[in-house]
Amino acid sequence: MTDRTVIVALDFPKPELALQFANKITPEQCAVKVGFELFVAGGPALIEQLVGRGFRVFLDLKFHDIPNTVAKACSAASRLGVWMLNVHASGGTEMMMAARNAIDSANEAKPILLAVTVLTSLDKTALKDIGLVKEIPDLVTDWAALAKQCGLDGVVCSAQEAALVQSRTAEDFVIVTPGIRLPSNTKDDQKRIVTPADARAAGASCIVVGRPITQAADPQQALTEFNNAFICA
Ligand code: C5P
Repeated sequence: MTDRTVIVALDFPKPELALQFANKITPEQCAVKVGFELFVAGGPALIEQLVGRGFRVFLDLKFHDIPNTVAKACSAASRLGVWMLNVHASGGTEMMMAARNAIDSANEAKPILLAVTVLTSLDKTALKDIGLVKEIPDLVTDWAALAKQCGLDGVVCSAQEAALVQSRTAEDFVIVTPGIRLPSNTKDDQKRIVTPADARAAGASCIVVGRPITQAADPQQALTEFNNAFICA
């Protein structure tokens, strides 16, 4: 479905900082991820500039709304030329299918459509508080299987759940995993980190890496190290 890719999380507060940083890395060696903070600050113009520079852009806005609204948002993202986007699996079957249909009927290149399963910030107690009483691995894999049934291309999940997700879906189901560190990196605020090699062994198709690359003295060198560990190893 997609080549193994390192996705650099552009977690910057302002578009000019993201674009300055983007000058330091090459689009042939990575994709970039734009989340809420940067998108709210930089808007579609920033996405167009990144796409114009040759970057594959993962628009990480985790759409979750009524099916019609999510479908319209997916169509708008397709028109921007993003490479990957995501919706919450908890939005339900009809919402995920509406997202799929919207992307399939776009005239532009079709972005890879992912589902977000259980946010890693939610533990068992937090899930119980909102009425979700399954064990977390069961919920993650059930939602991944549902996303697959709805025609989605893959999921975002922890590398620790990647192997389980793959066993419930398919070889070519895209698995995108954040929380990745090389053994030499600091953990920052990540609680459960996984190395690129372990993520790959667990079945990850893409890894999301932020600060170990964006805060590195030499971002291109750091990116090369992640590529070597994840792709070339
Ligand atoms: O800097 P770091 O590598 O920790 O950044 C990881 C990126 O992946 C951030 O953009 C973060 O929001 C995102 N992410 C995550 N854990 C999740 C989902 C997304 O770290 N479960």
